[in-house]
Amino acid sequence: MSSLDVAAIKADFPIFQKRMRNDARLVYLDSGATSQKPAQVLEAERFFYTHHNAAAHRGSHLLAEEASTAYEGARATIAAFIGADSDEVIFTKSATESINLIAYSFSNTQVAPFVLTAGDEILVSEMEHHANLIPWQQLAKRTGAVIRWFSVTADGRLDLSNIDQLINERTKIVAITHQSNVLGTIPPVALITSKAHAVGAIVVLDACQSAPHFPMNVVELDVDFVAFSGHKMLGPTGVGVLWGRASLLAKMEPFLFGGSMIETVTMEGATWASAPRKFEAGVPNMAQAVGLAAAIDYLTNIGMSKIHQHETELTQYALDTLQTIKGLNIFGPLDTIDRGGVISFALEGIHPHDAGQVLDQYGVAVRTGHHCAWPLMRKYGVAGTTRASLYLYNDRSDIDALAEAITATQKYFKVS
Ligand code: ALA
Repeated sequence: MSSLDVAAIKADFPIFQKRMRNDARLVYLDSGATSQKPAQVLEAERFFYTHHNAAAHRGSHLLAEEASTAYEGARATIAAFIGADSDEVIFTKSATESINLIAYSFSNTQVAPFVLTAGDEILVSEMEHHANLIPWQQLAKRTGAVIRWFSVTADGRLDLSNIDQLINERTKIVAITHQSNVLGTIPPVALITSKAHAVGAIVVLDACQSAPHFPMNVVELDVDFVAFSGHKMLGPTGVGVLWGRASLLAKMEPFLFGGSMIETVTMEGATWASAPRKFEAGVPNMAQAVGLAAAIDYLTNIGMSKIHQHETELTQYALDTLQTIKGLNIFGPLDTIDRGGVISFALEGIHPHDAGQVLDQYGVAVRTGHHCAWPLMRKYGVAGTTRASLYLYNDRSDIDALAEAITATQKYFKVS
């Protein structure tokens, strides 16, 4: 029995009333790309625009005050959700921007630990999303630093056999996913972080695929930066979060310059406000932040531990069900130990894009392709995979519908 009342949850999401191709119901298995939004989130944004809309932190009128209160209230909600102080939470437009902001900081100041020189090492993994790889590659290019990486084992785990070589006195940054967006794998973040800190390296965690799915506490994680996006956790697009240790944020130079991020300005120069304001130039994404706070309230009311338990049970059911299909091969761990609800697979004799198109005829929405993790595809020698990703509004009937549609796809392409 699931720990969640999925029927009641589904009723909160207007999009599930939509009929798909061939009048099929929506079987949404693409939450790893973006989640659907409950009415509570849609309403929170609408309410902000209807009742409080003004530019936060500017103006002395009632609406400006209300907009500022709503925006800062959203920051407090997000901070509480991850066990942080509000001043350590920066709103960005996306997790991608959050990671770029950190990477940019490393070549933009002469203040330790943000100085990188030729030969310094940045450690990532072979299972990183491009958003947690390319900014570091570019930083390496600018500074002469070297990119090194954990390999991935055949069963989709990080290869830790050479961890003590990979994390060494030259390592300055370790940027690692909290959960692979392709394999669902959850790397041993505590082990990696303790070794990284022992050599003085900064640890950056890409939490895009974890923050929406299980309880997260930045103090317990003990990493230095965490990035995640709003739209993957029931919130709106256009809002991302960067959490950073206060002591590090204080030393970081701003990424974007303009209104609201300053302390003083003359014609010759400017000084910066303290964090988080110095990283939030321009009129902020207030409605999106408010929408994200509503999403977090929604998740918190249900309970992140219950959501995690539900998804773990459903992932096991999906792994068991999919493995009964002949000609279907799963990439990544086949059990739910240190693994989330992202299941990538290949269908023998069928290109992932073709599979995705036929599944769509049955109302089944999955992602196909390289999933912005091209090095991982190369590792497995495939052009792409078909990926089902689960969330709190999915249940066994969605997995059964996926399995039936896969069987129909194999029949269509005459491979079964
Ligand atoms: N990063 C998102 C995904 O994995 C878009 O699909």
